[in-house]
Amino acid sequence: MTLFDALAARRSVRQFTDRTPTRDELEQMLDAAVLAPNHRLTNPWRFYVLGPEARAAYGLALGHRKAKKATDEAQAAQIRQATSDDHRAWPCMLVVAMTQHENPEIREEDYAATFMAVQNVCLAATALGLGTHIRTGAIMGDPAARAAVGVSDAERIVAVLTVGTPAVVPDAKPRTPARELTRWVP
Ligand SMILES: Cc1cc2nc3c(=O)[nH]c(=O)nc-3n(C[C@H](O)[C@H](O)[C@H](O)COP(=O)(O)O)c2cc1C
Repeated sequence: MTLFDALAARRSVRQFTDRTPTRDELEQMLDAAVLAPNHRLTNPWRFYVLGPEARAAYGLALGHRKAKKATDEAQAAQIRQATSDDHRAWPCMLVVAMTQHENPEIREEDYAATFMAVQNVCLAATALGLGTHIRTGAIMGDPAARAAVGVSDAERIVAVLTVGTPAVVPDAKPRTPARELTRWVP
């Protein structure tokens, strides 16, 4: 698969088979991640591969947030349990965090670099026949979710990826052609 093939084939995959990605596959993806450009060679990325217990704890933290919309405690308990169970059942979760430099300019560069590493993970997964789905949101700053991951106080979680063998490969989502978004400035 060429890089252009991988770019075209990558999807946000939401349904996976039960197969857990192998350690070798995950290490290939993480080795690809750290090839991303990073200004001043800060290597800002940190990776956490979550097993079933950590996934369930992360899902419970998310479930607590979702359950705030419940109309009664029975429904809230059901939402917490279901969200935790759903996360335990994912074949793999990869949390990508970054170090937080005291200099805001470096911090911003490091955030950008860390997302380039995330893209490398997604493309490497595609080349290995795997699928990924990036998730973000306020949950990443939730103390219970952070504790589930084991992330240090000095780090910021920037993306949470599910990884696995696609059970369903979604159709490509439409994109605005680059030519409509590009000015060739003389
Ligand atoms: C920075 C970033 C954050 C994202 N956060 C979420 C998210 O919180 N939940 C979600 O379902 N998808 C999330 N996605 C996935 C996008 O929704 C997805 O990439 C988009 O719908 C295009 O689909 P595709 O990846 O299959 O091309 C995120 C993607 C990026 C790049």
